[in-house]
Amino acid sequence: MADNDAQKAKAGEAAAALVEAGMTVGLGTGTTAAHFVRALAARKLDVQGVSTSEATEALARALGLRTLPLDEARSIDLTVDGADEIGPGLALIKGGGAALLREKLVWEASRRCVVIADASKVSTVLGGFPLPIEVVRFGHTHTANAIADVLVDFGLPTPRLRTKDGAPVITDSGNLIYDAGRGAIEEPAQLAGALKSITGVVDHGLFLDLADQAFIAGDTGVEVLTP
Ligand code: 5RP
Repeated sequence: MADNDAQKAKAGEAAAALVEAGMTVGLGTGTTAAHFVRALAARKLDVQGVSTSEATEALARALGLRTLPLDEARSIDLTVDGADEIGPGLALIKGGGAALLREKLVWEASRRCVVIADASKVSTVLGGFPLPIEVVRFGHTHTANAIADVLVDFGLPTPRLRTKDGAPVITDSGNLIYDAGRGAIEEPAQLAGALKSITGVVDHGLFLDLADQAFIAGDTGVEVLTP
C-alpha cells in the first residue's frame, strides 16, 4: 500500500466511526471514499447507503451494504466523500473521478458532509488541481468556448475535453467533462456562478459551503478541520 493510500485508509476509517445504526449515509466516490465504504461495511451496522456513482454502488453492494437511490431517501444523515483539493474554508475541488454531479446532488441532500483525504490534498489557494466541468454532449464544443471565455476572465487556461484511451469520458449521467487548466482560483464563488450560468454546463467541481468537516490523515494521525 502506497503511503498516501495508508493515509486515505485512516481518514476513511475515522469517518466510518461517525456512522450510527439506522442512519442513511451518502457514499462518496474515489479511492479515499472506497476506504470509507469498506470500513463502514466492516462495522456491519444496520444502515442504508446512497451511492454517488455506479462504481460506488457496485462496491457497496459487493460488500453487502444496503443501498437505495437518492430519490427514495427521505433525507441523508451523513455523507462522506473524498476531494481532489481542499482549500481555505473547506472550499473543495471535486470531480477527478467524473462523479461530481451525483456527488453534489447527494451532498446537497445531506444534513452533514465530511470530506476525507490524505494531507497532500490540502492547499492554501484552490486551482492546483484542474477544475472539472460537466457539460451536456449536444453542442459541447460551443459550450467549451463559452467556458473558455469565463475562465480567461478569471485568469485560467482553456479547458480540455477529458478523454480516456482516446475516447471522451462519459459520466454516469451521460455527459462530458472538460477540465480547466491549473491556475489560482482567487474568487471561487464568482467563478462557480459564472460557470453555472452557461446553458450547456450541468455543474462544476467547486464544492463551496458544503463541507462541515474535513478528516485529514497525515503522518501523525487524523486531523479534523472545520470551515
Ligand atoms: C470523484 C471525486 C473524488 O472524491 C476525488 O477525485 C478524490 O479521489 P481520490 O480519493 O481517489 O483521490 O471527486 O469525482
